Amino acid sequence: MKRLIPSRLIPISLWDDKNMLLKLPPDIVEVYQMLISRYDLWQLANSRNPKNPPTGGLTQEKTDEHFAQAFDGSSARAQLALLDPKNELAEISNDIIVILSGNKVSVTDAPCGAGAAAFALLANIAELRRNEVLPRMPLDIFMVGAEISEPARKYAQDILVELRPKLEAQAIFVEAIFREWDVTCSLSNTDLIQCITQRVMDYNKRLLIIANFNGFLEKERKRKDAERQIEELFRHLSSTDNSMAIWIEPNMNRATESLFPWIFKKVKEFWSRFVIIKLESKLEPMPLNTSTEFRLPLSDSNKSSVRLSIIPINLIRSRK
Ligand SMILES: C[S@@+](CC[C@H](N)C(=O)[O-])C[C@H]1O[C@@H](n2cnc3c(N)ncnc32)[C@H](O)[C@@H]1O
Repeated sequence: MKRLIPSRLIPISLWDDKNMLLKLPPDIVEVYQMLISRYDLWQLANSRNPKNPPTGGLTQEKTDEHFAQAFDGSSARAQLALLDPKNELAEISNDIIVILSGNKVSVTDAPCGAGAAAFALLANIAELRRNEVLPRMPLDIFMVGAEISEPARKYAQDILVELRPKLEAQAIFVEAIFREWDVTCSLSNTDLIQCITQRVMDYNKRLLIIANFNGFLEKERKRKDAERQIEELFRHLSSTDNSMAIWIEPNMNRATESLFPWIFKKVKEFWSRFVIIKLESKLEPMPLNTSTEFRLPLSDSNKSSVRLSIIPINLIRSRK
């Protein structure tokens, strides 16, 4: 398989090949630092406990903790999926690049938190365009960020306000709605789906991002309550072509041994008419994994590891 962006073409602002070090896009770093200062979160950011990373939640306190301590790791994980500098994720990087290369794209990030995954993908595309690795074709994004925490939605909105001019300089135009969503509530899910589908016909490509949801679904044992809503999201976003989802998790047992096998089983038994897991071989589906280190954007010299497990999902309908 030919890589659209082989690692030698990744600019040094995003990937230091010699030290195998990922760097968040300068625009994300600048905006993140600005908001950490604006909301007086430096102390919280500097008191991380790597053994017990925050997973967010409804309150301002939980949201602040997650934003100050995990936004950068979530961004790095999405960036790793897009750039795949070690070439370990088969076609995923190519698929994301193709879908975000230009034209009109509907992007749903659910749960979005402060938008780390979606914003990281867009800021990376902008940085690749700035460095003339990708062409600057107009890219119109209709982004729906779905999230239960109101303070997290506010952070996402604040980030977009700061990021927007930098994206627009690279011909990336984002219209975004950040809306309340409870994955365990069928009506809340209906509202989200209506919000997306009212506009989706104007957009010829669709990308659904589900990132870092294992804490809620597995650790808090909410998978059963969420199952029907996740199925509905997949079904309503499915199409006859140009619709994909990426499910991004840290490479940990809860994701690789529990959450992802559950999805594979669901697809095999019930969802195969609108979900296809892209397989490298005819063997059983497996998540793809990669890892590296990334430079922490809130410190000058520190780095941390980022471990990614991902499944690429085509939301393509079949007749069977
Ligand atoms: C670990 S964070 C991931 C957020 C984001 N995807 C990221 O990568 O930064 C999990 C998110 O799930 C949200 N969440 C918790 N319960 C939820 C629910 N019932 N419905 C929707 N989202 C929920 C939390 O508020 C939190 O923002």
